[in-house]
Amino acid sequence: MLLQPAPVLFEHLQDGLGIGVAEPRLSWTLPVGAHTQDGYEIELVRNGRVHRTGRVDSSDHVLVPWPGAPLASRELAAVRVRIWSGAAEPSGWSPPALVEVGLLEATDWIAVPVGGDWPEDPDADRRPARVRRDFALATPVAHARLYVTAHGLYEAEINGRRVGDETLAPGWTVYRERLRYRTYDVTGHLAPGANTIGAWLGDGWYRGLFGFDGGTRNIYGTDQALIAQLEITHTDGSTTVVATDHSWNAAPGPILTSGLYEGEAFDARLDDARWSQPRNEPDPAWTPVATGIRDPRSLVAPQGPPVRCTQDVPPVTVTRKDDGRHLLDFGQNLVGRLRITVDGPAGTVITLRHAEVLQDGELATAPLRGAHARDTYILAGGGPRTWEPRFTLHGFRYAEVTGWPGELADGAVTARVHHTDMRRTGWFECSDPLVNRLHENVLWSMRGNFVDIPTDCPARDERLGWTGDLQVFAPTAAFLYDCAGMLDSWLTDVGVEQLPDGTVPWYVPVIPGNDIWTPIQPGAAWGDVAALTPWLLYERYGDLGLLRRHYHAGRAWVDLIERLAGPDRLWDTGFQLGDWLDPVAPPDDPAAGRTDRYLIATAYFARSARHLARSAQALGDAEAAERYGALADEIGAAFRRQYVLGDGRMTSDSPTAYAVALGFRLLDDPLGRRQAGDRLAALVVEGGARIPTGFVGTPLICDALTDTGHLDVAYRLLLQTECPSWLYPVTQGATTIWERWDSLRPDGSLNPGGMTSFNHYALGAVADWLHRVVGGIAAAEPGYRAISFRPRPGGGITWANTRHETPHGSAGIGWQLTPEGMTAEVTVPSGCTATVELPGCVQVSLGAGTHYLDSSDLTRSGTLTKQAVSCEAG
Ligand code: BGC
Repeated sequence: MLLQPAPVLFEHLQDGLGIGVAEPRLSWTLPVGAHTQDGYEIELVRNGRVHRTGRVDSSDHVLVPWPGAPLASRELAAVRVRIWSGAAEPSGWSPPALVEVGLLEATDWIAVPVGGDWPEDPDADRRPARVRRDFALATPVAHARLYVTAHGLYEAEINGRRVGDETLAPGWTVYRERLRYRTYDVTGHLAPGANTIGAWLGDGWYRGLFGFDGGTRNIYGTDQALIAQLEITHTDGSTTVVATDHSWNAAPGPILTSGLYEGEAFDARLDDARWSQPRNEPDPAWTPVATGIRDPRSLVAPQGPPVRCTQDVPPVTVTRKDDGRHLLDFGQNLVGRLRITVDGPAGTVITLRHAEVLQDGELATAPLRGAHARDTYILAGGGPRTWEPRFTLHGFRYAEVTGWPGELADGAVTARVHHTDMRRTGWFECSDPLVNRLHENVLWSMRGNFVDIPTDCPARDERLGWTGDLQVFAPTAAFLYDCAGMLDSWLTDVGVEQLPDGTVPWYVPVIPGNDIWTPIQPGAAWGDVAALTPWLLYERYGDLGLLRRHYHAGRAWVDLIERLAGPDRLWDTGFQLGDWLDPVAPPDDPAAGRTDRYLIATAYFARSARHLARSAQALGDAEAAERYGALADEIGAAFRRQYVLGDGRMTSDSPTAYAVALGFRLLDDPLGRRQAGDRLAALVVEGGARIPTGFVGTPLICDALTDTGHLDVAYRLLLQTECPSWLYPVTQGATTIWERWDSLRPDGSLNPGGMTSFNHYALGAVADWLHRVVGGIAAAEPGYRAISFRPRPGGGITWANTRHETPHGSAGIGWQLTPEGMTAEVTVPSGCTATVELPGCVQVSLGAGTHYLDSSDLTRSGTLTKQAVSCEAG
């Protein structure tokens, strides 16, 4: 008999506890030894009753519809699956996976927001509160759940023990409409008799100082409050509910101030370590809470993983300055915060400052603009204490520690890396160490900026969900990490923030911008996230439900641009960012690139219309597919009329113009494509193979060159080390992707532009080309059901290993050049088909399994026959 499949997963979650859908879809990977699936059977155990589907003849095993009646709030089900693969006998049953629904109905909630009830100045820093409540349990506990969220940020504790391990919970959504709660199993936190539940509160995005030009306070409200509902089921079947209400108490805590940009100040002398434990006497410092209002219909369960600490990084050097300060270098630009363990006299003030780069041996804080990134800890005395700020994160490689009592011993200060704890799914490595470091930098920039929402940068006073940045980076992101759940959630907010006329914001959630960003107005490449990214996620994860959920937003976007463009189909009006950060744009005007902004706008209009047609097709809306397909054709024709000249040159004779025309397939005839490709290659070579593109052209240029016979030029661009190029920052010691090609200039000075981050993933979008073209793995059908392995080596790279955990399982290709050509080891996940095309060889089809191919002797593989394959050249 076959081995058993791994436990099923629900939706895009790693853990089925607190799921927010009544009919969660199920995914499983096939057991070892099963290359295909002919059928499956699912078993649900609900309330002691067993329900089996019986054998279902289907090869589907990703996001399979829930096979029973919808689950109700709080309902628990155990799910197992077994499969048939080629034989009459099924596999063993998978180990049972538990799914438990959260609170689906507004009427499930009785908790109301509770916070401190003392006067506060809404225009100044406010000292965060802690809230708590004692309660007694007369009967033993069978199980207990805590459903919890906040206006602001929270960390809950029960009986002195922290609940969960999330950072910056509940994350950032458009709080007005959607506030995420999380469900915890807190059975083990409770004890018979006296119990206490409490929470730390922080301002966060809800009411903290956030945004442009000094920031705005109270973006969502002036209150700071916990919303918690502890539901206990006792062994005798009775229940107890402890929900936030007027019976809770609040007191100012030891956090003096806390802000995402500013950092946190903590006075350990004010801390009472037993604050969340039962006490015998009432404490007069704790006063009754103020209660607030929250529409429970806006409380939603998470669709993806939370932000967590995922790694501890020790300093690589600690330098003591003459004046007693310590400068720490962690060797890696990261996002997180410091954990310190310190002992010293009460009242000693330790200050921690952070920066991404140094200048003249000191922290370079100018790029942080208004973000002070400063944490302060005041010692309580009485022995060593360990502390890490709670409600802030910083982007830094370097930290300065002031006021440290005595020597700073090894292990006393550690950088802790925090980001959305997505499952890693993509790896790439090749024979060129600089390219490997570039790839590593892309990975770190993703980690640093996938912090509940996809942000532009993590250090300065911005950290916003810029739609254009994500739109260009999504193909890379979806390879490196499983970001389906996180981006599904964020795209929901994109839809929420979209104006009724279809306008998509520059960044989501929307906060007050200076006059440029709000009121929002439509901009190409940024707004196109609504039409392009759901399709991209569908391609990578095969989730039709996700595509359907966001289809309306994409459609409203394309319809809007259709109206703006008018009958000539040219989008040539309004404010546009163009090829943002084209290297020739002056530091203070990054939109002033060499490519006509309206050329880019019309190209994106065509691209989105085309993708909408594809989405409509996939969703079975044939009429819309035809309508948007025809629209895309018309825009393409208008684009050529307006922007392509008789000799194949374009009105903007710029690399980005050719890259978009080619990448978006706007040049319909082979001659036009060849001319454009040749011109693009010539321009790149004329420019000394330095990168000539900004946000728009950069993700496209290598593919445009590859597809038009100029792979060698694409490799010259990739391997260039002179500024501007992808590898220039690597040669300067960069450990993340920079916002500007020359964030640090060749003369060692910082770019003087007001916008100079060292951790910005957008220009790292080239990694998608690394994975698909250098490595050689691409999805040929949605969800990698069919995979194309088509490595195209060049640039002196002699080997590459690329692996991707597809929704079906692990796909990989490792190739190396040989004197005769290339050998490759290709792994096709179970349930998938693949084609392999080594350079100069015809395409061969492969099934699941691991295959060894040799371009000079493809028959060497046990799975390939001479008749099935042939190879033209070595
Ligand atoms: C951000 C970008 C963003 C841009 C839009 C910047 O401040 O950091 O990445 O897309 O503004 O203009």
